[in-house]
Amino acid sequence: MPTKLFFSTATLAFLLSSLVGVNFINNKKTENHYNFYSNENSSFEAVPIVGAVGPETYVFDHFGEGPYTGVSDGRIIKWREDQRQWINFAVTSSNRSGCEGQHDHDRTEHVCGRPLGLRFNQTNGDLYIADAYMGLLIVGPEGGLATRLANEAQGIPFGFTNSVDIDEWNGFVYFTDSTLHYQRRNYISVILSGDKSGRLMKYDPQSKRVDVLLDNLSFPNGVAMSQNGDYIVVAETSECRIIRYWLRTSKAGSSEVFAQLPGFPDNIKRSPRGGFWVGIHSRREWIVGRIVSHPVIGKTLLKLLPFDMIMKAYGQFGRWRGTTGLAMRLSERGQVLDVLEEDKTTISNTWRTVSEVKEKDGTLWIGSINKPFAAKYKV
Ligand SMILES: *[C@@H]1O[C@H](CO)[C@@H](O)[C@H](O)[C@H]1NC(C)=O
Ligand SMILES: *[C@@H]1O[C@H](CO)[C@@H](O)[C@H](O)[C@H]1NC(C)=O
Ligand SMILES: *[C@@H]1O[C@H](CO)[C@@H](O)[C@H](O)[C@H]1NC(C)=O
Ligand SMILES: *[C@@H]1O[C@H](CO)[C@@H](O)[C@H](O)[C@H]1NC(C)=O
Repeated sequence: MPTKLFFSTATLAFLLSSLVGVNFINNKKTENHYNFYSNENSSFEAVPIVGAVGPETYVFDHFGEGPYTGVSDGRIIKWREDQRQWINFAVTSSNRSGCEGQHDHDRTEHVCGRPLGLRFNQTNGDLYIADAYMGLLIVGPEGGLATRLANEAQGIPFGFTNSVDIDEWNGFVYFTDSTLHYQRRNYISVILSGDKSGRLMKYDPQSKRVDVLLDNLSFPNGVAMSQNGDYIVVAETSECRIIRYWLRTSKAGSSEVFAQLPGFPDNIKRSPRGGFWVGIHSRREWIVGRIVSHPVIGKTLLKLLPFDMIMKAYGQFGRWRGTTGLAMRLSERGQVLDVLEEDKTTISNTWRTVSEVKEKDGTLWIGSINKPFAAKYKV
């Protein structure tokens, strides 16, 4: 019986993980010096979002206003600090019937859109949007309904468009499509199945052409240009690593592993103090680690069990292990500079499942795919 099989598997995995579970942070502490921040030495504020959840990413416009963020009902909203409230800015779907209101937005996001990646053109205020269902879009500085720029490359439609950044040196737009085979709401399946159909792409606003730079990636997620534009970093979520794709220098066109991480990375953003902040969705637990390194087990599990059950068990598993919010700032050489970890003892207003850390003027805006608030941290 599948249910029984699953729970015994999960229990066994849990027991084993307690024995063999290795804490990356504690391990590294002796080898590497980095700053550690927790709730104890920083002030924390939860900025509530009304009617939706999941501020996945944050961007500021060319006047420094914002942040803007995309949420679960398909809206892109803007924080007005003067009014202390979010205002509606843009949408990615013309059909908004049934999008807003108190229901499970996972059910409607394929119609309403789910804007994930955002990036302003700092010269003219246009906003590029990577929407999980609608592809790559753009909207002017006044907002409103976004226009689609691309939804396929090499004749293959996007499955789960995710993150976007602009190359300030040549005006190209880099973006990721996480998988051809699963929708965003089934993102755990991308990890469990060992899927390798993700792509890193380049959009040229002049010719409107889309080129594939890297394919066969395991859940490519966040992207960020380096400080001097020589390379772009891409979070490869299922592999728990960041890869570096060289755009310039003699290594142009090649890629390599930039950093190996203790968990599944989501977005990656440049820090004004140098390097990159990486949001870690969750730690690489033993069970998930096993499943990912043996795709056959993951695929079998997916066939045997309803997806909802896997999701629930996965969430439960995180709780057993005391999973806490985790983010890291990496240097341009891939070394850990800062670790931000939520205090395990704090129960309310926790910012687990971190999707992103966006640093601006000493404030860290922490994103999440499922929290009803934007978390603000002062360090
Ligand atoms: C912050 O507080 C933690 C826990 O008390 C401590 O271990 C850490 O060193 C502090 N970090 C800084 C940068 O002061
Ligand atoms: C808009 O979405 C609703 C709900 O999904 C659907 O029933 C309706 O047919 C759609 N309308 C158009 C014009 O596509
Ligand atoms: C940004 O805006 C400037 C000014 O309109 C334009 O020349 C440039 O091509 C734009 N860049 C992108 C990536 O759209
Ligand atoms: C990616 O995978 C496809 C199909 O599995 C294969 O044909 C192709 O050669 C691969 N591309 C690279 C760059 O390895």
